[in-house]
Amino acid sequence: MAIIICTISFRFLFSSSFHILSLLCVLNKVYAHEGRKMAETGHHHTVTVGSLIPSSVCSPSTIGLDEKSTLKVTHKHGPCSPHKQDKANIPSHEDILRLDQARVDSIQSKMSNSNAKAKDSVTLPAQSGSIIGSANYIVTVGMGTPKKDLTLVFDTGSDLTWIQCQPCVVACYPQVDPIFNPSKSTTYKNISCNSDRCKSIASGTGNEPGCSGTTCVYGIQYGDGSFTVGFLAKDTITLSSDKLREIEFGCGENNQGLFVGQAGLMGLGPDKLSIVSQTASKYGKIFSYCLPSSSSSAGRLTFGPKSSKSVKYTRLSANPKTKPYYGLDLRGIYVGGKKLSISPSVFTTSGTIIDSGTVITRLPPAAYSALKAAFKKKLSQYPRAPALSILDTCYDFSKYRSVSVPKISFFFRGSVQVRIPAIGLFVASNTSQVCLAIAGNSSPTDLGIYGNTQQLTLQLVYDVAGGKVGFASGGCN
Ligand SMILES: *[C@@H]1O[C@H](CO)[C@@H](O)[C@H](O)[C@H]1NC(C)=O
Ligand SMILES: *[C@@H]1O[C@H](CO)[C@@H](O)[C@H](O)[C@H]1NC(C)=O
Repeated sequence: MAIIICTISFRFLFSSSFHILSLLCVLNKVYAHEGRKMAETGHHHTVTVGSLIPSSVCSPSTIGLDEKSTLKVTHKHGPCSPHKQDKANIPSHEDILRLDQARVDSIQSKMSNSNAKAKDSVTLPAQSGSIIGSANYIVTVGMGTPKKDLTLVFDTGSDLTWIQCQPCVVACYPQVDPIFNPSKSTTYKNISCNSDRCKSIASGTGNEPGCSGTTCVYGIQYGDGSFTVGFLAKDTITLSSDKLREIEFGCGENNQGLFVGQAGLMGLGPDKLSIVSQTASKYGKIFSYCLPSSSSSAGRLTFGPKSSKSVKYTRLSANPKTKPYYGLDLRGIYVGGKKLSISPSVFTTSGTIIDSGTVITRLPPAAYSALKAAFKKKLSQYPRAPALSILDTCYDFSKYRSVSVPKISFFFRGSVQVRIPAIGLFVASNTSQVCLAIAGNSSPTDLGIYGNTQQLTLQLVYDVAGGKVGFASGGCN
């Protein structure tokens, strides 16, 4: 339904016959939990139950944001967000998990499409554009000259950076910052339809470009029915104090859907269209980030090399199933210090990607059932609670002050062990329904996805030029 509506509105905006073919995804994120009071004992975490519930104050950041190319990362719905929070607009856990599933469905369909070289449109359950964006981690950048500050969702699972632009020919969704007006930026330029750049955007947007007058038209549709359509343009983007000239981005004049509140999206994917590739000569195709443990603290996103001794690297995967995302070779899972018995072919059959915009890690069914069994065994003394949406391993901790939970580690190619921080183990709406924040895929061939809840507080380094991704613990609070 929504896809039909979108096609009509694209036609309305641009005379070219411009079809949306494949679908990407959107970002969401459980606004996480306060995670400080967690002790480490051998193979177990001791978790203070009260610390699982989000705080309503922003704790001062302890990380250095003094570097030139470093941006502060906050959770969209938390007290550290640059925008005042309207309580009514904060999505429920059920909403967040449903939107997360829409993102994952679109990742799965994009993946099977690109593998099959299919060109047909994919129909996914569309939601009304009024569903509040659960797009979760945001950064502030300066756009144009003189620069205007805009908050953008950042996403390693997509490539084109885009913002809402005036005039909003069909529709713009409401955003907090004033909508960017390209005619007021002295450095703004349209990109022509005849340019090589325009001709090759399909690899980064999933759609062939259109043409309006002589200006290149891009369009991206995300898995939940939201979309952005507009002109391919270039302008100066200021990251912290670094001025980057002639960065190509989408100036979206018809945008509907999930990103309510934010000015747009910063695409950090591997395609040549992404800001990572466009700034290769300056930053060497390296970026790193740390997602804060809770909506009440701040993390960071840094462009360029960062010296950190403790980072351990695993190669980006050569498994073709993981294109066009950042693929990793997951080799095994440990629970409470014991390796789960999972055949290696389970992971090679699915392939695994890492994504900053998927909330909940998805595992192949055989891997998830082994994990769930081992986890349940270790928590057998605690009462169970009903499932929360896609999360089926839930506990009632309301009668406990603290609980003991087994540590979970993922092993990647190169013997890289990534221990999931205690804060990344659970999603809790209240202490009587605390759920393991990992889910199983329905098909063994669906991609595994290493999602953002399990990345919290880790330092992640994407060395795209070097073909590797690195992990260290304790990147931020
Ligand atoms: C960019 O192209 C569009 C469509 O042709 C046009 O309406 C707009 O004025 C152009 N902007 C600039 C700054 O050239
Ligand atoms: C805890 O949250 C769940 C899901 O949102 C809800 O069904 C339940 O009633 C809540 N329990 C309490 C004690 O608030």
